[in-house]
Amino acid sequence: VQTATIIDGKAIAQDIRSQIAREVCRMKASIGKSPGLAVVLVGKRRDSQTYIRVKLKACDEVGIPSFIAQLPENCTEYQLLNVVSGFNDNPLVHGIIVQLPLPQHLDEEKIIDSVSPEKDVDGFHPLNMGNLAMRRREPLFIPCASKGCIELLLRSGVEIMGKKAVVIGRSKIVGLPTSLLLQRHQATVSTVHAFTKNPEKITREADIVVSDVGIPNIVLGNWLKPGAFVIDMGTNPIKDPNSRNGYRITGDICFKEATKVVSAITPVPGGIGPITITMLLSNTLDSAKRAFR
Ligand code: GUN
Repeated sequence: VQTATIIDGKAIAQDIRSQIAREVCRMKASIGKSPGLAVVLVGKRRDSQTYIRVKLKACDEVGIPSFIAQLPENCTEYQLLNVVSGFNDNPLVHGIIVQLPLPQHLDEEKIIDSVSPEKDVDGFHPLNMGNLAMRRREPLFIPCASKGCIELLLRSGVEIMGKKAVVIGRSKIVGLPTSLLLQRHQATVSTVHAFTKNPEKITREADIVVSDVGIPNIVLGNWLKPGAFVIDMGTNPIKDPNSRNGYRITGDICFKEATKVVSAITPVPGGIGPITITMLLSNTLDSAKRAFR
């Protein structure tokens, strides 16, 4: 029998977004200025286009003006650096995201380094990531997915301090910063990845599981501790002849099995995704507040 709470990420996101919208509105009324977000997309990847569409729509919803720069797949590093530099210097822009992954010929690290740390709402700049890793320092921005996980845990009344957490995956977008942030919140964190022996045994000990693998249904019910809190960050396209475009998105966790074992789980879609996007809005608002101080 299914006993787990299925977390309604959309409702939580909506709740936070209405709060952000009120703050943006108040800011406009009091100083006549608003936060602004710039988005840079290189090439035509379908997944990146979808992510960006969702991000821009979310900005619109809360009254944050957005700027989009689209560059062709074959653009030069110089062109891309120029676009970022323009946004770095633009006083209407408080947040900049360069949608990843970039085409192979571009040096991703070099591009990330070029974003002003003060406008790095993705939190991927080494200054922000480094400060996140060093416990007594404060990063200007925490990566959105990680911030979303903590927000969800806190709102769900889950105590993090002293708990065993397992993060499956170590990407710079999700896995690595989430491991670091959970440590900052006093969890005992294990990172499981492609070279980990017996990942199921390690995962089975965790009170909190965050999965960022990119393989549909790889985490089975018997990987999970009864009563665990499970956050599925996977967004994996799988074929589905019944859907409009021939595919649908599914997570890393075998949802049906998991719901019989754990105490709470985020579904895909409609789980952690909308909360993550909301953290982008929150980071942009925070950045604007600092700029207007
Ligand atoms: N690609 C997948 N997720 C993200 C994200 O959060 N930010 C950026 N810039 N690219 C991504």
